[in-house]
Amino acid sequence: MVRVLLKRVREYKKYAFITPLFMIGEVALEVLIPTLMALVIDNGVAYNDMPYIIRMSVLLVLSAMFSLMFGMLGAWSASKASAGFASNIREDEYRRIMKFSFADVDKFSTPSLITRMTTDVQNVQQSFQMLIRICVRSPIMFIFAIIMVYHNGGTLSLVFAVAIPVVIVAIALLLTKTHAAFTSAFRGYDTFNRVVQENLNGIRTVKAYVREEEEQGKFDEASEIIRRNFKIGQKIMALMGPTMMSVTFAVMIVLSYLGAKYINTGHMETGELMSIYTYTGQILSSLVMTGMVIVMLAVSYASMQRIAEVLTTEPSMDVNENGLKDVPDGSVRFKDVSFGYGKDSSVLSDVNFTINSGDMIGILGTTGSGKTSLVSLIARLYDVSSGSVEVGGHDVREYNLEALREQVAMVLQKNTLFSGTVESNLRWGNPDAAMEEMKWAMDVSAVSTFITPDEKGLSGRVEQGGTNFSGGQRQRLCIARALLKRPKILIMDDSTSAVDTATDASIRQALRNDVKGLTKIIISQRLSSVMDADMILMMDNGRIADAGTHEELLSRNEAYRDLYETQTRGGDEDAKN
Ligand SMILES: Nc1ncnc2c1ncn2[C@@H]1O[C@H](COP(=O)(O)OP(=O)(O)O)[C@@H](O)[C@H]1O
Ligand SMILES: [Mg+2]
Repeated sequence: MVRVLLKRVREYKKYAFITPLFMIGEVALEVLIPTLMALVIDNGVAYNDMPYIIRMSVLLVLSAMFSLMFGMLGAWSASKASAGFASNIREDEYRRIMKFSFADVDKFSTPSLITRMTTDVQNVQQSFQMLIRICVRSPIMFIFAIIMVYHNGGTLSLVFAVAIPVVIVAIALLLTKTHAAFTSAFRGYDTFNRVVQENLNGIRTVKAYVREEEEQGKFDEASEIIRRNFKIGQKIMALMGPTMMSVTFAVMIVLSYLGAKYINTGHMETGELMSIYTYTGQILSSLVMTGMVIVMLAVSYASMQRIAEVLTTEPSMDVNENGLKDVPDGSVRFKDVSFGYGKDSSVLSDVNFTINSGDMIGILGTTGSGKTSLVSLIARLYDVSSGSVEVGGHDVREYNLEALREQVAMVLQKNTLFSGTVESNLRWGNPDAAMEEMKWAMDVSAVSTFITPDEKGLSGRVEQGGTNFSGGQRQRLCIARALLKRPKILIMDDSTSAVDTATDASIRQALRNDVKGLTKIIISQRLSSVMDADMILMMDNGRIADAGTHEELLSRNEAYRDLYETQTRGGDEDAKN
C-alpha cells in the first residue's frame, strides 16, 4: 500500500530527497551553537580574551545564519515535494475514477470518492511533509545532542538515562489517546461529507418538503462528532507542553545541583553546564517531534488505505479495446438474462425477448420492477449475471465499449445538463453537428417550441444541472442531445414524464416518421406513451409478465386492461376540465 502511494511522488522525488539533507545541515549547525557558546564563556570571557571572543562570535553568527538558511530551504523543498505528491495522487485518482464502471462507482459511493480525493489527500500530504522533515531531523538532533552532552558533561549525562525513558513513556501514553480521538474525527468526515453533499444536491427538495430543520439536525450531529473528537485530541496535545516543561525543569534542577558540585570540584566549567541546559531542550523536543510524526502517520494511515483502495481498484468492466467497432443494426435480443447489482441481489430473472431493428417498443411496470436495470444492460452500463444481451446480432461484450455506447443512446431517468450554453450541451451528442442537424434534433424533440433553433437560441445559458429550465424542457433537451448522436437505438427512460401529453405525442410521431430505422425503447408510466408501440413489455418484479401489442394485451391481460381503463378515464376527465 505504501509503495502504491510513494510511486506517486514521481517528478518530485528530488525535492523529497534533498529535504532531509537540508535538515541535516540545519541540525548539525544548531547543535554546534551551544558548544560554541560554552567556548566563548569558558575560554573567552573567563580569560578576557577579546580576539578569541570576536572570532567565536563571528562563527556563532555564521552558524546561526546557515542553520536558519538550511531550515528554510528544507521547509521549501518539503512543501514542494508534498504539494506535488498530493497533486499527483489526486490526478491519478481522478483518472482511475473516470475509468470506473457504474458498478465500481456504486461500490464506493460518490461522497466517499470525493472525500478520498480531498480530505484524505490533505492528510497524506501533511504527514508526508512532516515525515521528510522531521523523521531525519529529530533522530539526528537527538543523537548529536546526546553526544555533545556526553562530551561536555561526562558522567552528568547519566541524568538523561533516567529522564529519557520517563519522557518516552509519557509521550507514548498521551499520543495513544490523541491517536484514537483524531482517527474518530477523520472518520466523522465521511459522514459529514455525505450529509453535506446529499443536502446541497437536493437543496430544492429539502426546501420543498420544509425539511431544513431535520437536515440541519443531521448536519449538526455529523459536525459535532468531528468537533468533539478534535477537541479531545487537541486537549491531550495541549497537555504535552506542560508535561514536557515539568520534565525539563526537573532535569534542570538535578543538572544544576550536580553541575554546581562538578564546577566546585573543578570537573566542569560554567559554559559547559549552560550548553547542557540547551541540549536538554533539544533532546526532549526531538522526542516530542518524533512522537508527533508517529501519530500523524498513524492518523493518516486510514487515509492512505482509502486512497490506495481507489488507485488499485481495477475497473470491473473490460472496455474490450479490440472488440467490434461496427454495430450492424438496431436489433436487440435478451437470452435467458439474469442480473443483480451485488452478489446476492437478483433484480432481473429469465428475461427473453427480441426487438427488430427500427421498431418502437414500450416498457410498462411499477417502480422497482426492473425497467431501468433492463435497459442499462443494452448500453452495457452493467454486465449480465447470466444469459446474454445481443445488439445487432452480437453479444454486447463483443463490441468495443465506446463503439457500442456510440450507437445506443440513453436518455436516463435522472438526466443531467451541464453548465454552459444550450449549444455546448447539445454538442455532447455530436461535437461537429451542422446547424441543420441541430435544428432537426431540436424539432424532433420539440425543443424548438421553447428555444428558437438559431445562433441566438443556441447561445442561451444553461445553469449547472439545467436548473433554469423546467423539468419537461430539460427532458426534451436531453432527447435532442441523444438524437444528435445519430444512434441506432434510442432508449428513453421515463424521459417525457414531465412533458404534457400533446407534446409527448408529437415527439413520438416525429420519432416514428423522421428518424427511420432507429430502434426506440420507451419506458413510461403513461400508457398513452406506449400504446402505439410495435410491442409492449409488461414488467413485474424483474420478469417479463407479458408482451404484445396494445390490442393483444387489451384482449388478454387483465392488469393491462385495468391500467388502460384507469388512465383513459383520467384522460377524459382531463379533457373535460
Ligand atoms: N445502482 C443500484 N444498486 C443497487 N440496487 C439497485 C440499483 N439500481 C436499482 N437497484 C434496485 O433494483 C431494483 C430495480 O430497480 P430499477 O431497475 O431502477 O426499477 P424501475 O426502473 O422499474 O423503477 C430495485 O429494487 C432497486 O432498488
Ligand atoms: Mg426506473
